[in-house]
Amino acid sequence: MTSSIPGKAVEALLRREKDLFSQRHPASKALAEKAARNWLRGVPMHWMVDWGTPFPLFVSKAQGATLIDADGHSYADFCLGDTGAMFGHSPPAVVKALEEEGANGFTAMLPSVDAAEVGELLEDRFGLPFWQITATASDANRAVLRWARAITGRKTILVFNHCYHGCVDDTFVTADHGAVKMVGGLVGEPRDLTAFTRVVEFNDVAALEQALAPGDVACVLAEPVMTNVGMVLPEAGFLEKLRMLTEKHGTLLILDETHTLSSGPRGYAGAMGLKPDALVFGKPIAGGIPAAAYGFSEAAATRIQAYLRNRGEGRSGIGTTLSGSKIQLALIKAVLTTFFTEEAFAPLITRAKRLERGIADVIIKYGVPWHVTRVGARVEFMCCPRPPKNGFEASQLIHQPIDEAIHHYLLNRGVVITPFHNMMLICPATTDAQVDTLISGLDRCIAELTA
Ligand SMILES: Cc1ncc(COP(=O)(O)O)c(C=O)c1O
Repeated sequence: MTSSIPGKAVEALLRREKDLFSQRHPASKALAEKAARNWLRGVPMHWMVDWGTPFPLFVSKAQGATLIDADGHSYADFCLGDTGAMFGHSPPAVVKALEEEGANGFTAMLPSVDAAEVGELLEDRFGLPFWQITATASDANRAVLRWARAITGRKTILVFNHCYHGCVDDTFVTADHGAVKMVGGLVGEPRDLTAFTRVVEFNDVAALEQALAPGDVACVLAEPVMTNVGMVLPEAGFLEKLRMLTEKHGTLLILDETHTLSSGPRGYAGAMGLKPDALVFGKPIAGGIPAAAYGFSEAAATRIQAYLRNRGEGRSGIGTTLSGSKIQLALIKAVLTTFFTEEAFAPLITRAKRLERGIADVIIKYGVPWHVTRVGARVEFMCCPRPPKNGFEASQLIHQPIDEAIHHYLLNRGVVITPFHNMMLICPATTDAQVDTLISGLDRCIAELTA
């Protein structure tokens, strides 16, 4: 039996929880008023107000899997900086590396003595031999698109509908019932981004084949599991088909593993035996300090070397000053050696399974038409009965008032999950008790909504 949740119940609960939030957070409220004088939209990064709370929660401390806000409330943090803190806030190994290396210089415009070892670690963990470091995953994606266009001599790229790869202009294109257009709400974009970006639905092999067939696509940039529009899992054989078709049409396959690093110590591609031409990831790779990496296969790197031999004089247009710095390499080394091992991931997966099972039980208990999915240490529930097949389907199901109501309810009871959809991450410091607090909070919330 499934029970539907009346819209009125959602509205009433959300209203009550917003009021409760306002009452419980006078210090955050005062800070919000003060900050509004100097920050655009009142926050140091404009989307920080998009959590939907009456005013932002101001954080005073973050440690392990716990956040403390300006009012002294403590939260079990399952958002973990939307993956930036996937290994916990201020993980001891990263703090130690900062303490030890921090006094020895941050950036010098030269490779540090860690460079060779970090390169080896990247190859060892992720299977690709040649790497570059950037400050953010957005930067890494922009760079890898440039390289792909350069070595294939093709201008067009392909992405999956409703993907997100950071603030990368080329990817802000969507398909709405077949009509390709720029995504809504883009700020200040003067170019027609549809000119060089093709979009197909995830899991649609026929559409993919058709889009690649003209032989003019430089690369497909894809998450192996879509994680930014709820969670869209690849159907059996889809990623293998993607690899086969890209190869057949001379198109490079770039996998953006920024979020799917949660899969395990070799990422999703490593775990599944996929062989991309390039990999990209950022966010937790230096423990939450800005750093990202992209890597190429031997074959792609050989083409890059050949391209560079014939490149004319002038600026490449790739790279920023603080990329590949000494401190980034020291922290990446600490993260790769400490967390990217089977032993380090095992307890995260065990705890993520506990969370997945607990949420599944709550869904069954109340008969709500929802489902829960998990990719390694990443868990997502969606308020629809079965996993969406593609980005379009998923986009119709997320950003519902019920998500906002649940987020507020949990926040007011000391649990933070990711805003915009219902993602939860487990880090090494997450405890079973925190997992159980989330599950029981969700249970009580649904009990109220279905009462
Ligand atoms: C899959 C994926 N790639 C890239 C990015 C961009 O990361 P950043 O904002 O750190 O540049 C994101 C951000 O959410 C992401 O989800």
